[in-house]
Amino acid sequence: APAARAVPAATGGLDVLRVEAAACRACPLWQPATQTVFGEGPADARVVLLGEQPGDQEDLAGRPFVGPSGQLLDRALKELGLDRRAMYVTNTVKHFKFEPRGKRRLHARANATEQAACRRWLEAELIRLRPRWIVCLGAMAAQAILGKDVRLLEERGRWHALGDGTQALATVHPSYLLRLTAGEREVAWPAFVRDLALLQRALA
Ligand code: URA
Repeated sequence: APAARAVPAATGGLDVLRVEAAACRACPLWQPATQTVFGEGPADARVVLLGEQPGDQEDLAGRPFVGPSGQLLDRALKELGLDRRAMYVTNTVKHFKFEPRGKRRLHARANATEQAACRRWLEAELIRLRPRWIVCLGAMAAQAILGKDVRLLEERGRWHALGDGTQALATVHPSYLLRLTAGEREVAWPAFVRDLALLQRALA
């Protein structure tokens, strides 16, 4: 069974991967989580939006970027006239990680081992999609694509050629914007939109 293997098949499309990933046991995060949150979007998408890991709402819905971070992302894309439905949206780690606090589930960052265990799914997605552009949202995503030594604040806001015809852009994670004060966000929001405007220009 794919559950025990937890290695994506070399053949089959994204729909096959999704089924396999739903049964993944390659790290312990599957157990407390509701479900695997796999990527979604057209198989012929030229753009991949890559987040870090699902949050509480994504875990419940089984879809990436549907919670507060997703709403912020949607707002930025809308400001730029970009259509999220034409893009493939996924995460670096595909299970929600949390610490229970009473009735709440507090977001916890997937560690290096968990990130490494999940890498196979992202790689399998990218092999199938072969996107022209990858937008990395946050440090975890940027490290997955640009290398673990990448410094997000230095590398954000410009295209990096990956050598296989793919261009990668890194920017901050929308959840970072949610944590800022209103005053800080006045600066950080336009900077986020400016980074994403590079994608708008690439697609134009
Ligand atoms: N944050 C992410 O990085 N991904 C999601 O899907 C939701 C929140």
